[in-house]
Amino acid sequence: MEQTEHKRFSQKFPELGTDPIPVANSVSPEFFAKEKERIFKRSWINVGRAEELRTPGDYIVKRMDMWDTSILLVRGRDGELRAFHNVCQHRGNLLVGDSEKGNCKGFLTCKFHGWVYDDSGKLRDVPDEENFHNLDKAVLGLKPIALDTWLGFIFVNLRPEQSLTEYLGGYMGEKLNAYPFDRLETFYTYKPDEAVNWKVLLDAQQEGYHVPSLHKRTLSLSFPKEFVRFRSHDMIIHGPHRILSAGSNAGEFVPTPVGAVASKIGANSIDAFAGAAGGDMSAYADAMHGVFDFNLIFPNFVIGLLYGTYFTYNIWPVAVNRSIWEIRMYYPKARTASQAFTNEYGKVAFRDGLMEDASVHEATQRGIESGAIENFQFQDEEILCRHGHLTVQRMVNG
Ligand code: FES
Ligand SMILES: [Fe+2]
Repeated sequence: MEQTEHKRFSQKFPELGTDPIPVANSVSPEFFAKEKERIFKRSWINVGRAEELRTPGDYIVKRMDMWDTSILLVRGRDGELRAFHNVCQHRGNLLVGDSEKGNCKGFLTCKFHGWVYDDSGKLRDVPDEENFHNLDKAVLGLKPIALDTWLGFIFVNLRPEQSLTEYLGGYMGEKLNAYPFDRLETFYTYKPDEAVNWKVLLDAQQEGYHVPSLHKRTLSLSFPKEFVRFRSHDMIIHGPHRILSAGSNAGEFVPTPVGAVASKIGANSIDAFAGAAGGDMSAYADAMHGVFDFNLIFPNFVIGLLYGTYFTYNIWPVAVNRSIWEIRMYYPKARTASQAFTNEYGKVAFRDGLMEDASVHEATQRGIESGAIENFQFQDEEILCRHGHLTVQRMVNG
């Protein structure tokens, strides 16, 4: 792999400085409360893909701890996708249970007293309505939440100050539009619930410095034997958003025996990290900077692009030291047994690396909560962690 001079990215981004970053903001409940108000409740937050709600009447409920609410996504009979607070306007019962999904066939009924809403959020029926005092059904629809989509990804915003397009700010320009997300429609999910601050979790992902050490039995095997230093192909910053791009290592790559079989079939797996995917990959090449692009859409959504497969992370902060890490891996729909095998191989190979990552999340949180360190020391390959902390600090402190 290409070795380049040291401290490349601090030269590229001098505005980020080189000072250590305080750990206090990752352990303070007061800071976390401010992050919820000043960051999460004002940002566009991804809640999945539009294909998950294909048919009119399809609905999904998402528990949004960092918004202190539960939201309902529903496709109306007019084809529109809408988001609402999942809260009945009668006395506030959650209309649908958390994490429920299905097809409501046009109507959702609160089980407490039976108020009925249609799939566009309007209040349609109130049992024993005549016994209420001046009840105006027209203003008692479900409370809407701003929703927009980008490349099939659904975003919602509790208190939008700008449109999704403005928020993304030409994120990656036209480049990402070329990625064939619609070809990769099958996804698998892991959802670990971890005793870790959301930023500590994210930091463990947005740098390659840890790869030779933490992933020496997995990801590192796709690098040359003397692999001791990770060097990114590039790092790109767009406002609060950021990209870590890894370069090709194809010439050096020796897959495991099972990986070799999977790649003959046309590997759509984490092995693609080393540029190993077969078949026509031109659509991927057009959309990507390197062979692996880790795109962080501020604050908590990651799209990890590879050749032939991509993954997403939604990092859901629950408390200052608790986060749910929702991981999805997207593959082409398997049409043959060998494609199913490739997808399974990819899923498992990726999981092995993720388990190594997870093993340090909670341990790091315990370490910083001990008070034994005051600052994170970030080196050049960890500069996106620095960018993340500085962005959060700036937004929290106004
Ligand atoms: S709280 Fe929903 S019908 Fe009463
Ligand atoms: Fe990792």
